[in-house]
Amino acid sequence: MSGHDYSDVSRAIDMATGGRRHRRLRRTAWSRELVRETRLSGSDLIWPIFVRDGGGEAEPVPSMPGVFRHSVNGCVEAARKADDLGIPVIALFPFNDTTRRDENGTEALNPNNLVCRAVRAIKAAVPQIGILCDVALDPYTSHGHDGILRDGHVDNDLSVEALCQQAIVQADAGCDIIGPSDMMDGRVALIRAALDGQGLRDTMIMSYAAKYASVFYSTFRDAVGSSGVLKGDKRTYQMDMGNGDEALREAAQDIAEGADMIMVKPGLPYLDILVRLTQEFNIPCFAYQTSGEYSMMMAAAERGWLDGDAAMMEVLTAYKRAGAAGVLTYFAPRAAEALRQRGV
Ligand code: PBG
Repeated sequence: MSGHDYSDVSRAIDMATGGRRHRRLRRTAWSRELVRETRLSGSDLIWPIFVRDGGGEAEPVPSMPGVFRHSVNGCVEAARKADDLGIPVIALFPFNDTTRRDENGTEALNPNNLVCRAVRAIKAAVPQIGILCDVALDPYTSHGHDGILRDGHVDNDLSVEALCQQAIVQADAGCDIIGPSDMMDGRVALIRAALDGQGLRDTMIMSYAAKYASVFYSTFRDAVGSSGVLKGDKRTYQMDMGNGDEALREAAQDIAEGADMIMVKPGLPYLDILVRLTQEFNIPCFAYQTSGEYSMMMAAAERGWLDGDAAMMEVLTAYKRAGAAGVLTYFAPRAAEALRQRGV
């Protein structure tokens, strides 16, 4: 140390820190591995998949690079892949063009609709995989809202009635987890009662408890064919971005109404909400890494502005560190593959 009194500096640092040097544990790969607090695994992931009518090749969703709309057979293949990779659950979302949409979203109640057919096909071929189905009318309505309109307003009680019916047809088809994403009041209680009334007591409910009116759903709406059709916005039912305490009230109520699991959505801009809910409630709480979060990262990676794999792992780990029991993510197969290669 050319002329520099190194030992003086070292002694001063030892005095100031009491000899506690945090870098000691970070010095080698093995010691970092040894003391890591949060570890992601394939079993933490839920993979959202888009299903479309007809056969043939998977159809790319341009605004979500690496994401496709699959035929029913393609969904069965995806379920096999998920199972091989140790992903425990897939979430199914239907793409419907305008011909299958109407004012009241009646196709949602059809026991032979696209989602129900996909659920049956997957359950027949890969019975060991869990299936989650969204409960909301937006893939089926001509106006793109999650519920039924009355005098131009999304009517809560009218919508809940339809949502209960939608939950029943999906659970009847073999769906394991009902995911009410509609944000109507009282829907968890009424869906639970409706399922129990049909003897579907084992069907779980993962409620989108804190779902915010967000710009980060934009590319999902492309994927399900809702972007062009949505009239207005969803702020009369989805939560306001400025509110945190309200998320606690929403979650408490969904749990009281019978939710088995809850969810925060979107994930990254609402990590604080995830922390608050996981600390407050002793129930599995999931994060939804939404389409917009996915597309944003993919776009930056495509430009070479981010290392895509590294960004994916960093953000997925952040959800777990914040307390999530698991993450719904379009990265699921890619992340599970990367984890497998590392032998995790
Ligand atoms: C439907 C629903 C949406 C998402 C999941 N379920 C969109 C919305 O509420 O407009 C978003 C998923 C994503 O962006 O990845 N209610």
